[in-house]
Amino acid sequence: MNNLIQKYNIPGPRYTSYPTVPFWDKEGISMKNWKNSVVKSFKESSDSEGISLYIHLPFCESLCTFCACHKRITKRHTVEEPYLVTVLKEWDLYCDMLGERPKIREIHLGGGTPTFFSSENLKILIDGIFKRADKFKYFEFSYEGHPNHTSEEQLQTLYDLGSRRNSFGIQDYDPKVQKAIHRVQSFDQVKKVHELSKQIGYESISHDLIFGLPFQTEESIRNTIKNTIALMPDRIAYYSYAHVPWIKGVGQRGFDENDLPKDHEKRYLYELGKQLLFEAGYKEIGMDHFALPTDSLSKAMESKSIHRNFMGYTAGKTQLMIGLGMSSISDSWYAFAQNEKSVEAYTEKVNKGELPIFRGHLLSNTDLIVRKHILNLMCNLETEWTNGLNDQTKNEIIDRLQEIIADDLIEISENKITVKEEGRMFIRNICMAFDLRLIDNKPETRIFSMTI
Ligand SMILES: C[S@@+](CC[C@H](N)C(=O)[O-])C[C@H]1O[C@@H](n2cnc3c(N)ncnc32)[C@H](O)[C@@H]1O
Ligand code: SF4
Repeated sequence: MNNLIQKYNIPGPRYTSYPTVPFWDKEGISMKNWKNSVVKSFKESSDSEGISLYIHLPFCESLCTFCACHKRITKRHTVEEPYLVTVLKEWDLYCDMLGERPKIREIHLGGGTPTFFSSENLKILIDGIFKRADKFKYFEFSYEGHPNHTSEEQLQTLYDLGSRRNSFGIQDYDPKVQKAIHRVQSFDQVKKVHELSKQIGYESISHDLIFGLPFQTEESIRNTIKNTIALMPDRIAYYSYAHVPWIKGVGQRGFDENDLPKDHEKRYLYELGKQLLFEAGYKEIGMDHFALPTDSLSKAMESKSIHRNFMGYTAGKTQLMIGLGMSSISDSWYAFAQNEKSVEAYTEKVNKGELPIFRGHLLSNTDLIVRKHILNLMCNLETEWTNGLNDQTKNEIIDRLQEIIADDLIEISENKITVKEEGRMFIRNICMAFDLRLIDNKPETRIFSMTI
């Protein structure tokens, strides 16, 4: 296994989208094409499945040095109100375009730290969204919270607004690791917000953990998983640490590269965590996620209705996902668009009455076919060849998979390709064989984190 890990641990995408962001068209997408794709998608799908909203709330009080998210560090809470006003103006721009009141299937507040915002402001935000929209018959509302900055009042307010699912960033419980990543939080603090959530009535609580962080050892991971299992969250994201200092700059230089576990040590930490989670009754979902069998994500996996988008894995698939807030990515299925990545540029465009997008991509017919295959593999670990690829492309993909076949990681039949259990950890490498954009534009510089 160590040989395979060494062989396949190469830079590669995480496939929260296809094409992946670095391979979007350099010319971007025209505003007209973006708007048309949103309206088309809305007309096709809103009655049957509703739409999803991702709202990016970027502020955090202090910087965690491992963090690869789009955030703005500040202790000044006066930033909250003007930001919310802008997000609601952006929402107005979309609602004006759609013509008809949208029905919302899912809202997710991501960050940054959504619980940086006061209860009153979170209420203003969600009430503002529903001034122009209704809930779809199945409605889910989730948010990310920092255990050190989530109060009972916030938990209650968000519950009263309809949220039944939240997730907390834990990362690791070991004091040495916590110090290195500048993210100190005690088990007692996590226990407090977790148990409060349960008492209030949240139905699904998720914990984010990361393997591959500086100074992690077998013992520290055992302890982190032991503490996690003591609280039995319904879902666990067990992310591979993405070390991307060339994108995120000095924020990630609070520790040395030598402090990070090496390839096979890192993978061992995943396998160890996975084993301990299996023993505790969790099921593995796609890549790097676990859920209790009672959770909707496990059920969606069983019925093969699970979906993956920029929010990660979700049980609530919609064709149209609108991303509001700075840096958010929207997905109309036919096209992607990303918002300006600084609060200032984002605000300036919205205040001019423009959708604040700065780049995007209109999918070609081939992109749409490949997208479906990659989604099938990431979600269900299999895909059927009947999904529209011509024979030449199919044969080229099979050629690229030869080594993976020889290593007994996948099975290919006349109709489909199936990832074997041993192949699951190489899923990003398997998807790369389908990634025509990556193959046509071999990147010259490092743009992705390592696959393992
Ligand atoms: C945007 S954060 C939001 C959570 C909240 N701000 C907090 O820190 O508790 C979402 C999750 O992304 C994950 N994450 C952030 N940077 C990462 C990185 N470089 N590699 C892997 N996972 C990362 C962390 O597990 C984090 O909890
Ligand atoms: S991990 Fe969470 S709290 Fe820390 S900087 Fe990133 S978004 Fe902010």
